[in-house]
Amino acid sequence: MPSERTTDDRLASGHPAPAATAAPKTLAAREDFPLLATSQNGRRLAYLDSAATAQKPAVVLSAIDDYFRRYNANVHRGVYRIAAEATDRYEAARHAAAELVGADPRGTVFTRNATEAINLVAYSWARHELAPGDEVVLTVLEHHSNIVPWQLVCAERGAKLRYLPLREDGTVALDALDELLASGRVRLVAVTHVSNVLGTILPVAEIARRARAAGALTLVDGAQAVPHMPVDVAAIGADFYVWTGHKALGPTGIGLLHAAPELLERMPPFLGGGHMIKRVELDRSTFNDPPWKFEAGTSPIAEAIGLHAAIDYLRALDLARVREHERELTRYALARLAELPFVHVPGPPADERAGVVSFTLDGVHPHDVAEICDRHAVCVRAGHHCAQPLMRELGVTATTRASFHVYNDASDVDRLCEALVAAHELFTR
Ligand SMILES: Cc1ncc(COP(=O)(O)O)c(C=O)c1O
Repeated sequence: MPSERTTDDRLASGHPAPAATAAPKTLAAREDFPLLATSQNGRRLAYLDSAATAQKPAVVLSAIDDYFRRYNANVHRGVYRIAAEATDRYEAARHAAAELVGADPRGTVFTRNATEAINLVAYSWARHELAPGDEVVLTVLEHHSNIVPWQLVCAERGAKLRYLPLREDGTVALDALDELLASGRVRLVAVTHVSNVLGTILPVAEIARRARAAGALTLVDGAQAVPHMPVDVAAIGADFYVWTGHKALGPTGIGLLHAAPELLERMPPFLGGGHMIKRVELDRSTFNDPPWKFEAGTSPIAEAIGLHAAIDYLRALDLARVREHERELTRYALARLAELPFVHVPGPPADERAGVVSFTLDGVHPHDVAEICDRHAVCVRAGHHCAQPLMRELGVTATTRASFHVYNDASDVDRLCEALVAAHELFTR
């Protein structure tokens, strides 16, 4: 359970909030996150890189520690007490992950990360289903992990990739989707739920509805959505929904694929090995039922247990409140950045974006911006953010990105703005 908020360090910044915009507080207590108690150059860390990976609350670290100290054993095979406990807790984590997003636990597969979940669909479903001339539709907003697997599998199967373009405001035009679907050749529409660069929230339920009406399947990449807002996989109606644990306050090394068990049943295995079989002969094997059919080898046991603790923590905060908190903080950030005439922020307004704000500065390279931020103990990311096609579309090679989570507040944004002013002065004076 998140503890009570015990600090309010909005006053730590030299920049008071603009009068017109309320200064949001943290939603979770920073004290719940051990790393956020550390300081750099005498200042507490302003961590604004949660789109890359989120900080972990102590309850997640304790759950992992408890597993290794108290009941470390492999799952599914042992009959002894600690092995049964490990298995129970691993499977309980699956149920918790499924429940978080309204999915069927029998169709909830643990992978290493979101990237592996997408590759699972590419290599198991698409590699067998796509025929020459078929089409896969993506958007130009996609993370490389939702582009490259499709490039590989389309090249192998003689299928074609098509892209939905970006509108001026960083959103995606659905009439362009209708035009592509009208060809009758589209077999899969694979789109991000939330852009990791612009924060754009895509209308994924409507995209899935239109794709289905045209006979195509849909994959939604929820890596930047599940950690930040209520997600109902059943209501979205996509055939495949993927996300990743480490952005959801959980550990690295665990991702999720949700699909209907019947669809997974029809798909061939992705990786072969232990755990995923029923019976192995010298020349052939029969496979386990989903989801275990797609979980070859020793499972990410500690990771699943840590993720379960993260899910409980997020649910106790209430994901609707998480979304509201990040919307407020994004609104505040957009207002503060708008006061700096040398800063340019592409993308939609706060109501249509998650807590992700990318920007460029006149006369300062994004990497230099990030480095000056680091001197101010402000952690932001600079580069192409694994979205090179989007960078080209925006006409830049890189941006600097600030992204928010439950432990951020207005003072973090104020600290960012302070650092941006310093960077601009240093490089342009
Ligand atoms: C939108 C999006 N999709 C997919 C991924 C890949 O996540 P992972 O590296 O955990 O597989 C990321 C990571 O940044 C992302 O932002």
